[in-house]
Amino acid sequence: MSVHNNVKRVTTHVLQEMKRNNEKISMLTAYDFSLAGIVDKAGIDVILVGDSASNVMAGHETTLPITLDQMIYHASAVIRAVERALVVVDLPFGSYQGNSKEALTSAIRIMKESGAHAVKMEGGREIRESIERILSAGIPVMGHLGLTPQSIYKFGTYTVRAREEEEAERLIEDAHILQEAGCFAIVIEKVPAELTAKVASELAIPIIGIGAGGGADGQVLVLHDMLGINKEFSPRFLRRYLDLYTEIKGAIEQYVTDVRSGDFPNEKEQY
Ligand code: KIV
Repeated sequence: MSVHNNVKRVTTHVLQEMKRNNEKISMLTAYDFSLAGIVDKAGIDVILVGDSASNVMAGHETTLPITLDQMIYHASAVIRAVERALVVVDLPFGSYQGNSKEALTSAIRIMKESGAHAVKMEGGREIRESIERILSAGIPVMGHLGLTPQSIYKFGTYTVRAREEEEAERLIEDAHILQEAGCFAIVIEKVPAELTAKVASELAIPIIGIGAGGGADGQVLVLHDMLGINKEFSPRFLRRYLDLYTEIKGAIEQYVTDVRSGDFPNEKEQY
């Protein structure tokens, strides 16, 4: 019997049960009330209020500029729409690195002010203390390893991570450290498929991949990318399910034409 079909609300425990039952976990981002409601109704297991909102919603080049207040704004809009999915919110850059007390304060603000169910943090051993402190307050934490976009200026590029043995070994160790610290799941971004499969088979907690191959326990994509709203971003791992850029542009062009010609509104569209 499938686990995901039998739950009214997805919890961190449901995700772990899904892994034990060999059921893949589906996860997408959302940043606003309208789209989060559709994503939830479509049966997604986890909604990530990602700091990719910095790129997708605000047009920044990186995820670094988004603030804690802005993440809380997006998260509370998402929470108002969601009935079933687990809602996880990214702790933004600068709100947790290097200071576990500040990390806890940031996580508490997210939980209290948005009503979210969990937080996500980028990094391995270097943020262990912050993770443990947040967990000690009863806040579930999702980890994030591999390509961690908040460190883009350290990496220099968005290319595949952990191709070399040394970095791959470190990632495996970090995944174990995050599990021991108490993370309920880990996102692994843009690493070789074989490495993800190894980590997923070694760990008891779910591994959610993005550009990390089919061996993960689940997959996550940025909603606007998979809907084809963004034309420019087309990495190999991205499957586009719609071409919404073209659809939306076509509809708006038609509207402009109709307004200009006087075709809109017609007799039935007025009082
Ligand atoms: O912010 C985000 O959207 C993410 C996903 C890419 C996993 O962290």
